[in-house]
Amino acid sequence: MNSLEIRALSDDAATIELLADLLIDTVGAGGSVSFMHPLAAEAARDFWRKSLAAAARGERAVLGAWDGEVLAGTVTLLFDFPPNQPHRAEIAKLMTGRDRRGKGVAARLMRAAEELAVGKGRTLLVLDTASEEGAAGLYEKLGFTLTGEIPDFALKPHGGLTGTLIYWKRIGTAALSLS
Ligand SMILES: CC(C)(COP(=O)(O)OP(=O)(O)OC[C@H]1O[C@@H](n2cnc3c(N)ncnc32)[C@H](O)[C@@H]1OP(=O)(O)O)[C@@H](O)C(=O)NCCC(=O)NCCS
Repeated sequence: MNSLEIRALSDDAATIELLADLLIDTVGAGGSVSFMHPLAAEAARDFWRKSLAAAARGERAVLGAWDGEVLAGTVTLLFDFPPNQPHRAEIAKLMTGRDRRGKGVAARLMRAAEELAVGKGRTLLVLDTASEEGAAGLYEKLGFTLTGEIPDFALKPHGGLTGTLIYWKRIGTAALSLS
């Protein structure tokens, strides 16, 4: 999708509404992104308000993939870690709108998140994804290495436990020093 524009999202009401709609729809369709179905609109808005407030404090970045006025997808990059992990960042809440999937939106968001992390001097990216109906294949295509699986880690949005897969990737100067 060439017309896609990736940018950090601001905490205005219209953006929060678009993010909430995306989260509710993703959870309803079985996406493992920390919430259970049905997800109430106010709970979804509250999550994004707090997330964007954390972004305004510099603790994370919430990126959006815009196709014109349409929010096609989002990803969150977490920066706020203990003093002994200043080199690390974590990927969270990667979602593409259901009608936008399979067109490279998530891959573009992930590349932008990685570039942002490198720009902030981070050298290690970590993430986890559900063993069932997660996005392991996507992360492996993007160069992440699987550490292992924790069984029965979380409930799926419609119930029933799933494991989680833990991934990591060296980025920036850490990746360069390996090549
Ligand atoms: C996972 C998700 C974000 C992928 O979004 P997308 O925009 O359709 O992904 P892309 O089109 O950028 O896919 C890039 C590549 O990864 C592959 N891929 C995408 N999702 C995949 C999945 N779930 N499993 C395996 N491979 C996947 C694509 O086939 C594509 O491969 P290609 O480059 O060889 O064509 C989307 O399906 C989604 O929102 N799912 C629900 C929420 C979720 O599970 N998020 C992940 C939480 S950890």
